Amino acid sequence: MHAAGRQAAYGALAGEAAGFDPGQVALKARRDWTLIGTAAPRRDVPAKVDGSAVFGIDVRLPEMLHAAVRMCPELGGGVGTLDSKAALAMPRVHQVVALPAAAGASAGFAVIADSWWHAERAAAGAKAFATICAVCHQPTGVGNPAMGSPNLTDDIWLHGGRREDIQNAIRNGLLSQMPAHSAFLDPEQIHLVALYVYSLSHREEAAGR
Ligand code: HEC
Repeated sequence: MHAAGRQAAYGALAGEAAGFDPGQVALKARRDWTLIGTAAPRRDVPAKVDGSAVFGIDVRLPEMLHAAVRMCPELGGGVGTLDSKAALAMPRVHQVVALPAAAGASAGFAVIADSWWHAERAAAGAKAFATICAVCHQPTGVGNPAMGSPNLTDDIWLHGGRREDIQNAIRNGLLSQMPAHSAFLDPEQIHLVALYVYSLSHREEAAGR
């Protein structure tokens, strides 16, 4: 903001500023320092120590919803296919929002739910399914007859459709064709993917609606 009331945002000045040559800058002599080396009071410390500080994450507003976000880990990368139906069917989830790539960053998605915990569970399940299971079962979970991978969205279960059965299938694999995943998914991840797969065919019941 200029004294005359004119103003400009940082972004508007950045291009020109980058080409600015500061020339020879004379450093201040040590004896002329006024702030460097002095102990500045940290006014935020008492509140942080006694727990009274309110952080952004602590703010609760009436009917507030919470989001859990997953971004493509590759710079400029995107989301191949995301089927939001199962995530939407997970408990207390309201919406799944695609986040387009902006300013050279990656694309991703956000799951919005009643609490961060519910949003996070659905986001973790959706991501694990999309990255690990979708190659054989398709992004939507409908399966691929050519590979012998069954449809996970209907109510036909060859190996049992209870949550425990699904967890077992993921953990230990099935016969020789469905690989065991216990070596690279921990029990919590197996639980979440199983919950996600369960939601694929139990949409109304899982959502508690
Ligand atoms: C390499 C391919 C492949 C991958 C990866 C894969 N599956 Fe499978 N899956 C199969 C095949 C093939 C079957 C059928 C096996 C059978 O009937 O013996 C199967 C069966 C299943 C079943 C049993 C379905 C039923 O009708 O009882 C479940 C549940 C399942 N997969 C879930 C998953 C989940 C969750 C993941 C990701 C963690 C996953 N699968 C990853 C190939 C795969």
